[in-house]
Amino acid sequence: MRKYTALWLTVTFLISQQVGCISADDLPDDGALDSIGLATKYGHPPTQYDVVTEDGYILAVYRLPGKGRIPVLLVHGFMDTSDTFLIRGNTSLAIYLANKGYDVWLANTRGNRYSRRHKTLNPDKDSEFWKFSFHEKGCYDLPAVIDTILNETGANNITAIGHSEGNTEFFILGSERKEYNSKINVLLALAPVAFLQNVQGTLGIAIQLEPVVSGLVKTLGINEFLGDNTTLGIISHTVCPIPILGYTVCAYGLLYPSVGSDPTELEQDFFENLATHYPAGTSTQNLLHYLQLGYRKQFAQYDYGSDTNQKIYNSSDPPIYQLDQVTMPVALYTAANDGFSALADVAMLQSQLPNVVYYLLSPYALCNHVDYVWGRTANIYLYPYIDYMLNLYNPL
Ligand SMILES: *[C@@H]1O[C@H](CO)[C@@H](O)[C@H](O)[C@H]1NC(C)=O
Ligand SMILES: *[C@@H]1O[C@H](CO)[C@@H](O)[C@H](O)[C@H]1NC(C)=O
Ligand SMILES: *[C@@H]1O[C@H](CO)[C@@H](O)[C@H](O)[C@H]1NC(C)=O
Ligand SMILES: *[C@@H]1O[C@H](CO)[C@@H](O)[C@H](O)[C@H]1NC(C)=O
Ligand SMILES: *[C@@H]1O[C@H](CO)[C@@H](O)[C@H](O)[C@H]1NC(C)=O
Repeated sequence: MRKYTALWLTVTFLISQQVGCISADDLPDDGALDSIGLATKYGHPPTQYDVVTEDGYILAVYRLPGKGRIPVLLVHGFMDTSDTFLIRGNTSLAIYLANKGYDVWLANTRGNRYSRRHKTLNPDKDSEFWKFSFHEKGCYDLPAVIDTILNETGANNITAIGHSEGNTEFFILGSERKEYNSKINVLLALAPVAFLQNVQGTLGIAIQLEPVVSGLVKTLGINEFLGDNTTLGIISHTVCPIPILGYTVCAYGLLYPSVGSDPTELEQDFFENLATHYPAGTSTQNLLHYLQLGYRKQFAQYDYGSDTNQKIYNSSDPPIYQLDQVTMPVALYTAANDGFSALADVAMLQSQLPNVVYYLLSPYALCNHVDYVWGRTANIYLYPYIDYMLNLYNPL
């Protein structure tokens, strides 16, 4: 009870603090800009590539051209888009790297706002479109994007930077499509996710409820999760951008309990802008696959239920990903206040990856799961460590 009283007092205090407070470094109209608009506004008009995967999905990939010899590919996290690397404007990771002269590429994986397209399937009508998780993104989306980059640039390898789920996909790529390990000269894994058995908070509770959640969404036949035109997506994009109320409900009520709390790095003005960019949708199967990783305490393929597993995998349990096959060099960036990629889970990952070349525990103690991309001053406490690895593997 005391806990709730304290929370209520905190919320009331924060509301009183924020009434009438308009910050000077507000980004008033960035909420309405898409990736092309944002990259253009901050000095790097991008080229768009519509990359087709071998299973027919059409992905929007943006390139902010630069003179760097080895292209840098940035891959967003769960329910996110390429906007995430642009919405902090001049201090965004993509703009920062493009300003330095890197050839920056931004992926959008299947099912999000920009990649809700397929050669033959209609996402609004065909439930088949939504039968994917980060497994298919790692096995099909990343190879198609990487091959496009190599083909367009003539390079024979790329530097990859993943955030959250982006890294899950790279680990699956390295274990399932082994020939791609040599095409990645280093993976900078920001907030990496593979094991989820030490997660606390709201996500920890959701993981415990995996069988219930799974049964519910299957009964209700929900294919798309938090897409722009789904009921939850519309509620989210209506409520979360509202000043004060949206910040209280969506940041304090939903986001912080899941990813770790850090209000000074995710200020209200920015949150209003962010809330139109995020969430941008994914498949329900993608959500369920994450819950399964935690519930089953294994980094394994999607669990369809034992009968279907038998047909698909020739085994009643889904196969475990072979992390020892992920031979690409990996740099792990972690944070003590990260509610999604817990340090103990990253430690398990680190012990199973054969080629970890760097490990950073963020010296900024409050750093949480989303500060890597959305943090107000991430350019100060994070980017120097990114520069350090880029100077080693991808000097300009
Ligand atoms: C971003 O930085 C560029 C170059 O440093 C500057 O010209 C521009 O005004 C900045 N844009 C914004 C919106 O701050
Ligand atoms: C949502 O619906 C609008 C209007 O029909 C459409 O223009 C838009 O592409 C849809 N977006 C998504 C992500 O489904
Ligand atoms: C590779 O590049 C060539 C020429 O730029 C283009 O014609 C071809 O379609 C590209 N192939 C792929 C797989 O992107
Ligand atoms: C990656 O590409 C660069 C530039 O083409 C090349 O110098 C380097 O040897 C390549 N590294 C690997 C691991 O293939
Ligand atoms: C399926 O698994 C069984 C038992 O592990 C094995 O004997 C059999 O060869 C497998 N079949 C196929 C098609 O891989």
